[in-house]
Amino acid sequence: MLVEVFADHESISDRAAEVVTEQLRRKPDSVLGFATGSTPLGLYKRLIRNHEERGLDFSKMTTFNLDEYVGLPPTHPQSYHHFMWENLFNHINVNESRVYIPHGMSDDVDSFCAWYEKQIEDAGGIDLQILGIGANGHLAFNEPGSSLGSRTRIKTLTEKTVRDNARFFEEGEAVPHQAITMGVGTIMDAETVLLLASGERKAQAIRDALEGPVTGMCPATVVQMHRFAHILLDGEAASKLEYRHHGGIAEPKP
Ligand code: F6R
Repeated sequence: MLVEVFADHESISDRAAEVVTEQLRRKPDSVLGFATGSTPLGLYKRLIRNHEERGLDFSKMTTFNLDEYVGLPPTHPQSYHHFMWENLFNHINVNESRVYIPHGMSDDVDSFCAWYEKQIEDAGGIDLQILGIGANGHLAFNEPGSSLGSRTRIKTLTEKTVRDNARFFEEGEAVPHQAITMGVGTIMDAETVLLLASGERKAQAIRDALEGPVTGMCPATVVQMHRFAHILLDGEAASKLEYRHHGGIAEPKP
């Protein structure tokens, strides 16, 4: 595990953009896994800039998103489809036929999930998976209590997640209670996982994920079992860590 600690969210985004850009330069037909949420927004802005100003080419990449709400059409402003097109895909030269985002309106969710897993497999697996982390330790929509071997499937969200998300929806509008999410096992199959976290709100989840016992009650703890987890934190998110990890070697804090 490689843990890098930066001054702030901006610097995390700079570093994440470097990692993704380097991946695409080395392997233009990379398979990338994308996340939504506020954490990767700075990364996406930088990728757009690298495309516009430095000609970074996205035309050969294939992408798989982590998750999507069940019951929201792709056009819904809170859907993760909408998020990804607004914040990234509309601004780069992505090949639409190689963009995969779980379909929240699927009428046969189980078949859809099996199909999604097959697309990842047929694409050769995910080279680099970008991840955020929930304050409760969730990864994608794998909430506490998720199986660590799980694959893409439908998950019921915790009451807290539903409450937290309610602020993004119109008053009186139904907030989704379920999502389709890559499983913890699906995420673990990625060649590299790049987990980003910033802010004091994430400090305990990061402490649990990186230094706590591996448990389905904090799905993000599986990063400890990944062959190469690259973790980018700011000082606040790292503030509860006991150890500083350098290049995979954990050393006691001075
Ligand atoms: C998003 C996702 C979620 C977020 C997590 C952190 O696709 O899967 O697990 O990564 O909830 O969200 P933010 O970045 O908004 O703090």
